[in-house]
Amino acid sequence: MRALNRFNRKAVFHSLKVSLAATAVSLFLCTSCSKAKNSKSISGDSEPAKVESFQKNMPFAFGAAVNINLLKSNTSYRELVIKEYSSLTAENAMKFGALHPAEKTYNWSDADYLVQFASDNNKRVHGHTLIWYKSLPTWVMDFQGDSEAWEQLFKNHIQAVVSRFRGRVVSWDVVNEALEDNGTLRNSIWLQKLGPNYIARAFQYAHEADPNALLFYNDYGHEYSSVKRAAIINLVNGLKNAGVPIHGIGLQMHTRYNQTDANLNAAITDASQTGLKVHISELDIAVNPDNNPSLTFSALLEEQQAEKYFFIVKTFNALPANQKFGITTWNVSDADTWITGHYKRPDWPLPFDKNYKRKACYQAIIDAVK
Ligand code: G3I
Repeated sequence: MRALNRFNRKAVFHSLKVSLAATAVSLFLCTSCSKAKNSKSISGDSEPAKVESFQKNMPFAFGAAVNINLLKSNTSYRELVIKEYSSLTAENAMKFGALHPAEKTYNWSDADYLVQFASDNNKRVHGHTLIWYKSLPTWVMDFQGDSEAWEQLFKNHIQAVVSRFRGRVVSWDVVNEALEDNGTLRNSIWLQKLGPNYIARAFQYAHEADPNALLFYNDYGHEYSSVKRAAIINLVNGLKNAGVPIHGIGLQMHTRYNQTDANLNAAITDASQTGLKVHISELDIAVNPDNNPSLTFSALLEEQQAEKYFFIVKTFNALPANQKFGITTWNVSDADTWITGHYKRPDWPLPFDKNYKRKACYQAIIDAVK
């Protein structure tokens, strides 16, 4: 990447243009990106790195989804998390199945560990996630009961978890992925057992348990489906207008290096039109979205990925200050990304490589807020 000359950079950008509107924005942003990157090397090739950390350099909370086992057992991982991030999300430790494996059993150990770790190291904790159709324990999937019993199960879980961490977890993804890509409500067990107003009730129950917690609706697809994006905005605006205690919208943004700037811009700016806080809550940028089993991470891909991170962060940073809840990457490094396991393919979606070294996109993220 650092060997790329200006001609190659232009060729890369040219190939990425898909709309006139995005072209103008991209050229402006990428010129700034290239200038910034030229003046500050992160590789140590010519100049020593001056950037201390995301935590010190980013003007809004910058976080990562963390794996508790790695936090406990891998010193490089732990030290990097302590150094770089100001906000932490549990990748899995606060999901229903992890916290509540049997009807009368809660397992708080990993979630408690994370919250204590965050407190010891002065970091914010964002809770993920109270109500989701996945990662449910079998006792919930098999639960037999009338609608009142289901309502109790639902309310008890939300309120037990939120109460446990009241004042220590500042925000929650209350409901995750309630919509299908076609914009209809997902036919989840929650919809089946509780009806469509379960979403509003989840927010109300969470709010009762911690009136100071910031409550988010979290979903994916804002950038690749205008239909889903409209449905999410419609859902969120409906909750807000009905007086439901919702404070933010989470854009997961598991995206790809060749997603258009126009789509990414629409995702971020449409979310901000709700007036709610915006959290880019699960950011990663895949460079192998077509599942090529023999792909290598070329200099060109690294550069294209950096430019996409730059665009996303720059666009987010342009939102009103009180709406910038933060950006969280989903995982820390290319060694621990969920993508390689889930899709069974090589990929390099995160700002740190497999050896926890900063990649080109690390510097692009910093440059995007200058
Ligand atoms: O805990 C078991 C372990 O006991 C068992 O030995 C092992 C064998 O496969 O599985 C372990 O559970 C896995 C768990 O991750 C912990 O590693 C589950 O099978 C696996 O499905 C689970 O995947 C997680 C997935 O959510 C489902 O909960 C991923 O790590 C996690 O990155 C992913 O995160 C989601 C967000 O919550 C919501 N948005 C999308 C995002 C990516 O899919």
